[in-house]
Amino acid sequence: MELSCYINGRRVTKQIDADMVLLDFLREQGCYSVKRGCDTANCGLCTVWVEEKPVLSCSFPAGRAQGLHITTMEGLQKEAEEFGRFLAGYGAEQCGFCSPGFIMNVLAMERELKNPTDEEIREYLSGNLCRCTGYVSQMRAVKDYLSREKKEAAAQ
Ligand code: FES
Ligand code: FES
Repeated sequence: MELSCYINGRRVTKQIDADMVLLDFLREQGCYSVKRGCDTANCGLCTVWVEEKPVLSCSFPAGRAQGLHITTMEGLQKEAEEFGRFLAGYGAEQCGFCSPGFIMNVLAMERELKNPTDEEIREYLSGNLCRCTGYVSQMRAVKDYLSREKKEAAAQ
């Protein structure tokens, strides 16, 4: 089948197998930030955005992206780097394996939730498994990142 969609704002049209998943399609288009972990919709590592909403690309049929806008970390480099500095600052990135999916979800959450509570943050990010950090340092990094603008404004 022919798939035509937008990847990070660029229109792409390709012939694909009907059973191809979005993860493989995106990697074929050079989006190597999209990684495969469990391949069973359980770890969150393969998260990308479809129409600005996070989806697990390992279990999202590529054909369903027909005409839609897909965003990967390649399209969010500046924000991803900024949040990455917060993760590093809190020692919340150890092996780094979980980071691509985690970053995609944190940046989506920032757009979706205004002033989220700890509970809301935990719930939003509950699909991102991390085998290293125990989530405490990640939580500190997320909260500090989300409040950075307020802190910057207060410092002026
Ligand atoms: S690889 Fe998709 S959820 Fe784990
Ligand atoms: S930092 Fe290693 S899995 Fe999260």
